[in-house]
Amino acid sequence: MTPETHTGLESPRGVWWKPAHKAEKVWVAIAFGWCMVLFAMMPLWHLKGGQNPSGIRRKVDPQAFYQRTQEFITQYKIGEDRGLPIVAPPAGSDVYLTGLAFQWTPILQLEKDRDYVLHLSSLDVNHGFSLYPMNVNFQVVPGYDYGLRVKPTEAGDFRIICNEFCGIGHHVMVGRVIVVDPTAASAETGGSR
Ligand code: CUA
Repeated sequence: MTPETHTGLESPRGVWWKPAHKAEKVWVAIAFGWCMVLFAMMPLWHLKGGQNPSGIRRKVDPQAFYQRTQEFITQYKIGEDRGLPIVAPPAGSDVYLTGLAFQWTPILQLEKDRDYVLHLSSLDVNHGFSLYPMNVNFQVVPGYDYGLRVKPTEAGDFRIICNEFCGIGHHVMVGRVIVVDPTAASAETGGSR
């Protein structure tokens, strides 16, 4: 028995060139309609869903951004935790956070239900800003100032986990964000005032 051969020069076997069955047309129409729904969801979710916040993005010199972060630290520093400054900026202000191998500087102390503009950037390589245990993730890219309008909705002591592999110390790159509730009587602070 010789195996059947079929070269690309011959027409394919089958019935695919015959008009599609009605059921197939219906499925194609449903699939196309659903594609359009998903397509519409992208801009809709951007505007209504709060999933992809419209940030402020601009180019910045990594050293200049780091300098700005240092000035910000000097201006609003309230304490220290294991050598890292704890900074409590006033509500409504611009907040600077630099990612560098392998730390997030400074430790931020923010107030609940107040607005801030959080500026994220990196001094060296790509880092990933991941606020734990919230599901908040952003890329932190050297050379770009990524400004996010944020309003902490929950008081607590949060961790910033680096979720972009950045080198040998990637797994120890953990930062802190402390959110205090100014209306609560015993507002916890992360450092000595
Ligand atoms: Cu920074 Cu991983």
